[in-house]
Amino acid sequence: MNRNPHVAVVGATGAVGIEMIKTLERRNFPVGKLTLLASARSVGKPLTYRGQTLSVQELKRDSFQGIDLALFSAGGSISKEFAPLAVQDGCVVVDNSSVFRMDANVPLVVPEVNAEDVKWHQGIIANPNCTTAITLLALYPLHHAFFVKRIFASSYQAVSGTGAKAIEELKRQVRQVVLSETVSREVYPHQIAFNVLPHVDSFLPTGYTKEEMKMENEGRKIMHHPTFKASVTCVRVPVYRAHSVAVSAEFEKPVTVEAAREVLRRAPGLDVIDDPAKCEYPLPLYLAEKDNCAVGRLRKDCALDNGLCFWVSGDQLLKGAALNAVQIAEELLK
Ligand SMILES: NC(=O)c1ccc[n+]([C@@H]2O[C@H](COP(=O)([O-])OP(=O)(O)OC[C@H]3O[C@@H](n4cnc5c(N)ncnc54)[C@H](OP(=O)(O)O)[C@@H]3O)[C@@H](O)[C@H]2O)c1
Repeated sequence: MNRNPHVAVVGATGAVGIEMIKTLERRNFPVGKLTLLASARSVGKPLTYRGQTLSVQELKRDSFQGIDLALFSAGGSISKEFAPLAVQDGCVVVDNSSVFRMDANVPLVVPEVNAEDVKWHQGIIANPNCTTAITLLALYPLHHAFFVKRIFASSYQAVSGTGAKAIEELKRQVRQVVLSETVSREVYPHQIAFNVLPHVDSFLPTGYTKEEMKMENEGRKIMHHPTFKASVTCVRVPVYRAHSVAVSAEFEKPVTVEAAREVLRRAPGLDVIDDPAKCEYPLPLYLAEKDNCAVGRLRKDCALDNGLCFWVSGDQLLKGAALNAVQIAEELLK
C-alpha cells in the first residue's frame, strides 16, 4: 500500500466515524488525503481533521476511485453493498460491521492477539465485536499462559455502542425523568435511563442474542481456538461510553491470582487496576476516551476448577471500533 494512503472514512458522522477521524490524527497515521463519506443527509457537514475543515461527501458507488484504504462504520447493509465495490476499485477495507467477520476469506483481527492474520487479507479485514475485543485483551494473554477452556460472562454495555442516536436517547430520558416528564423511547424497546436491559441485538431460537454468541464465534476465530466456549449474557446499561465485562474463565492448567496478575501486567493495550482495599478497579467512567483497556477484581473462581474471575473495561468506541481499525491499518503499512 501507498506509504501515505488516501483514506476514506465511511460513516464519518457517526459515533465510531468521529472517533476514527480523531484516532487517525492522534496516532499520527500517515494520511496522504482524507475523504469523509456519509449519507446524503450529511453532505457538506464540516468536520475537523488536523485543524482543517473537511466537508462530508455522499457515499456513492464510485466514491472509492483513487482511495487506498477505507474504514467502514456505516452499518451492515452499507458494508455489504459498498465494501466489495471499494475492493474492486483497488481499495483495502477495514470493516466495523458484523457482515464479513465470520467469512473464511476475511481475517478478523485484534492486533494484540492475531496481527499476523492481516497478511492474508483479500481486500477486506474485519474489526471484531466490541465486547469481544475488550474481553480478549485480558483473556488472550491468560489463554496463552493457561489455555482457556470456557468462560461465563456478563457484559455491561454503554449506549454509545448503539450509535449516536442512543447517546441522545439516554441524555433525553435522564432529563425527562429528572423533570418528571413522560419518558419517550426511540432506540431501545424500554427506558434505558435508570434501568438496565438484558437485551443487546436480536434473539436467536436458543434464547441467546446474536451479540452474546459473538464472544464464542469471534473469540474462536481471533484466538485460533476452535473449541473455546462462551456462555454470555449481554446487558445494556445507562453508561455513555465504555463497556465492562465480568468474566469467569476456566483454564486447562492451574492458575493462581499472582501468576495471572504477572501475565496481565505484561499484556499489551491493557492496564491492571486491582486494589480493592483502596476501591481501585476499572471503571467505565474513567476509561472513556482512553486507548488502553483495564482489568481488575482478579480472584480465584470458587465454582470452577482452575478458574479465575476478572472484570475488564474499555472504551468500545476506541478498542472496540476506531482504535482497533486504525491499529489494523497500521499493521497494513508495516
Ligand atoms: N458504536 C460502537 O461502539 C460500535 C462498535 C463496533 C462496531 N460498530 C459498528 O460500526 C457501525 C456504525 O456504528 P455507529 O455506532 O457509529 O453508528 P451511528 O452513530 O448511527 O453512525 C452511522 C453512520 O453511518 C452513516 N450512514 C447511515 N446510513 C448511510 C447511508 N445510506 N449511506 C452512507 N452512510 C450512511 C451515518 O451517516 P449520516 O450521519 O449521514 O446518517 C453515520 O455516519 C455499525 O456497523 C456498528 O455495528 C459500532
